[in-house]
Amino acid sequence: MLVSPLPPAQPLSLAAEMLKSQVIIFVIGGPGSGKGTQCERLAAKYQFQHLGMGNLLRAEASEPTRQGRQIKDIMLKGALVPSGFVLDLLNENLLQREEAKGFLVNGFPRELNQAKDFERVGRPPNFVIVLDCSTETMIQRLLLRGQTGNRADDHESCIRQRLETHYSLCEPVITALFVLQIIGEEPEDAIFAKCCSVIDSLR
Ligand code: AP5
Repeated sequence: MLVSPLPPAQPLSLAAEMLKSQVIIFVIGGPGSGKGTQCERLAAKYQFQHLGMGNLLRAEASEPTRQGRQIKDIMLKGALVPSGFVLDLLNENLLQREEAKGFLVNGFPRELNQAKDFERVGRPPNFVIVLDCSTETMIQRLLLRGQTGNRADDHESCIRQRLETHYSLCEPVITALFVLQIIGEEPEDAIFAKCCSVIDSLR
């Protein structure tokens, strides 16, 4: 069983206090829908912290420990890492960056229980952006990226499993939450402009 990366936590009321003035945006969507690409650009423009759950988990998976190997195995199967671990990892990273103006949390929540459990930090996100893309587009993009070999999970069987996980576990989150849906099929710049107008509407 995966253990929490956190030492016995900061009191959650303290977390709520520290995060209350910051913008928190969740960015979700299927594998290859463009979450990482958009979050990188938005973080640079608005000086927000980009917390990519996949990136944080890949860092954990690279540790030469039993826990690291377990996380790696789960990710290479295209399954979800247990939510308790993911929540603690997210909380830890939010609290470490209390000076940030805002957070773009990429790839969270991916299960209904993650959305509910986030309330443990004491506040909902300002909004949730969903990048909506067809299965065909997502597969094409990931197979193309797979040719560069940067991501161990960008091969056909794992891509299909990631999609299956997305449709069975992540889609219900989209239905349950109030989300801002943006078509992820368009060119990067067009999607970026739409995301910016959503963020600008907060000001
Ligand atoms: P994660 O790293 O988040 O992977 P993913 O969801 O499969 O998404 P990707 O990173 O592959 O794609 P993306 O949507 O970010 O698109 P990108 O911008 O990169 O998660 C990995 C794993 O970690 C999960 O499978 C799971 O095991 C675990 N995990 C993560 N979060 C978890 C959670 N909350 N709970 C439990 N487990 C969790 O773009 C993809 C490609 O398309 C790039 O080559 C890009 O250049 C290109 N592209 C992007 N936008 C466009 C565009 N508009 N037009 C053309 N090409 C584009």
